[in-house]
Amino acid sequence: MTPDLLEEGAKRREAYIARLEGNRAPGESGGQAASFGHVVSSDVVDTSNGGILYVDDITVSFDGFRALNKLTLNIAVGELRCIIGPNGAGKTTMMDVITGKTKPDSGRAFFGTNIDLLRLRESEIASRGVGRKFQKPTVFEQLSVFENLELALKMDRRVRASLMHKLTSADYDRIAEMLKLIHLRDSGSRTAGDLSHGQKQWLEIGMLLMQDPKLLLLDEPVAGMTDEETERTAELFLSLEGSHSLVVVEHDMKFIGELVNGGQREKKKIVTVLHEGSVLAEGALADVQANERVVEVYLGR
Ligand SMILES: Nc1ncnc2c1ncn2[C@@H]1O[C@H](COP(=O)(O)OP(=O)(O)O)[C@@H](O)[C@H]1O
Ligand SMILES: [Mg+2]
Repeated sequence: MTPDLLEEGAKRREAYIARLEGNRAPGESGGQAASFGHVVSSDVVDTSNGGILYVDDITVSFDGFRALNKLTLNIAVGELRCIIGPNGAGKTTMMDVITGKTKPDSGRAFFGTNIDLLRLRESEIASRGVGRKFQKPTVFEQLSVFENLELALKMDRRVRASLMHKLTSADYDRIAEMLKLIHLRDSGSRTAGDLSHGQKQWLEIGMLLMQDPKLLLLDEPVAGMTDEETERTAELFLSLEGSHSLVVVEHDMKFIGELVNGGQREKKKIVTVLHEGSVLAEGALADVQANERVVEVYLGR
């Protein structure tokens, strides 16, 4: 980051902290009486402006090669955003920046208006409510499906406080609901290693959801799935739309079509096309599919 960006970031942070101090509720540490009812703490995402993710002018270079080149991307609360683009376009690198795995050379990235993602470690970003699904399923193969979800529940920051936490009936209900949501209702006692590839992917998504993320980043979630599994994954994501914000990177255009045309159709969904580290096109699916440059670099191949 350049010094002026750093300075700007520091100023923004100071202004934000000043605002916080002024808005603190009585009894909270800091002690000042609140003048407004709206209280934000620095680890709770502030989405009062309607945005959940602001990626601004991000550049990432690897040995001089720009994997991301002034990338700007904004995601609204509750949005389901599809991102497409050729191999090497920078899609995974973008997720690496948002989740703190890669620190960019320049630019800014905020979770809500208040959480500066570039100042946080990976674990801190995850605990603020950014969940990420990598391409390869990473469930605990030796454990049962239920135990996998139970472990994920115990990783939840709200439950983690009690190390010896025993499952309450509310926890059992939550796991049962999750099993249903991820199409594994009758598979709780199965060993995770015996699940199909698609079922493992669902289980991992369920594990992410147990930690109640506000924003979910899904990198090629249906790669290797059967057609039926792919359709059910689209249904699952559509059922999360609204209550969660989702960023889905995929190559499977049939799946993208199902996501865009299903669910809350009154909301026009935006599709973003990445190419050479920048946004090449953004808009309705039909418009990006008709875009000559998009056809040339991606869809026409
Ligand atoms: N750690 C890294 N070191 C060097 N080059 C990388 C690294 N990660 C990604 N790249 C390069 O950056 C470009 C973008 O990669 P990536 O974000 O994985 O693209 P996508 O996910 O869109 O296929 C590719 O050319 C890739 O080879
Ligand atoms: Mg990738």
